[in-house]
Amino acid sequence: MAAGDSGAAPAGTARDRCPTGIEALDNILEGGIPRGNTVLVAGSVGTGKTTLSLEFLIHGAERGERSLFLSVTEPTSKLIENMRSFEFFRPELITSGKLLLVDIPVLYDKLGLDHEEMRPDEIQLFLQTLEGFLTESKAERVVLDSLTSFAYRIQREERVRDFMLKLSQILAAHNCTTLLVSEIGPGAGRYSLRGVEEAIVDGLFLLGNARRHGDILRVLQVIKMRGTPHSRAQYVVEMTPIGLLLAPHLKGGLTEEG
Ligand SMILES: Nc1ncnc2c1ncn2[C@@H]1O[C@H](COP(=O)(O)OP(=O)(O)O)[C@@H](O)[C@H]1O
Ligand SMILES: [Mg+2]
Repeated sequence: MAAGDSGAAPAGTARDRCPTGIEALDNILEGGIPRGNTVLVAGSVGTGKTTLSLEFLIHGAERGERSLFLSVTEPTSKLIENMRSFEFFRPELITSGKLLLVDIPVLYDKLGLDHEEMRPDEIQLFLQTLEGFLTESKAERVVLDSLTSFAYRIQREERVRDFMLKLSQILAAHNCTTLLVSEIGPGAGRYSLRGVEEAIVDGLFLLGNARRHGDILRVLQVIKMRGTPHSRAQYVVEMTPIGLLLAPHLKGGLTEEG
């Protein structure tokens, strides 16, 4: 258990935090994500889910924390290219093993998980393999990009719920602070593919688009985060070589796009 979690912490002291490295987001969260939390990062295509997740992991690796990116949607070679757009990215983070990128489709092949619909025993095999990765890598920060691509292969809602519960238990047992990427359509009205995922996680970042005077802006909101008070205000996100910059925005002339 982290030091900040102990009963001996002085009154008013927050739980131990896992700083995202995105300064304004850490300020909203009073220092960062409460360590050990699982957070859904929901948003439509191009809203910055992968970029935010990469920044979170690079920052962790820079602090000496083992950081693991499980990629379902993009080959890891492409992710490395994306990371190069950040001034603060150093390839040594990967060569030193602090930042570990895993291609999940390659893993599927190795495990023989080639059915369109995953059976319960295949889901179990995947979870066991994931647990093995966590034990071996001693990862403190984990990203699964995306949960949607994985959940897509689990057809029944009760199986998705069961998968989510087991996944949360495994991540909690290893004290990982985790971002689960959720791909949703614009204006989807829910935060995940099946709608059960957001109920199980500890936190939820919602990324989206908003139109202002003909421009489409990226926006971010912290919808939920167990273990800390936080603002639920909407922030405008700017992607820059020094990372994501957030600024509170005035709603004048702004329309939600989802
Ligand atoms: N450092 C950066 N500076 C400017 N634009 C960026 C940067 N990093 C990513 N982008 C752009 O942001 C967009 C969204 O990125 P991405 O994180 O892949 O979205 P999502 O994962 O939500 O689909 C892409 O079009 C990408 O080119
Ligand atoms: Mg992405």
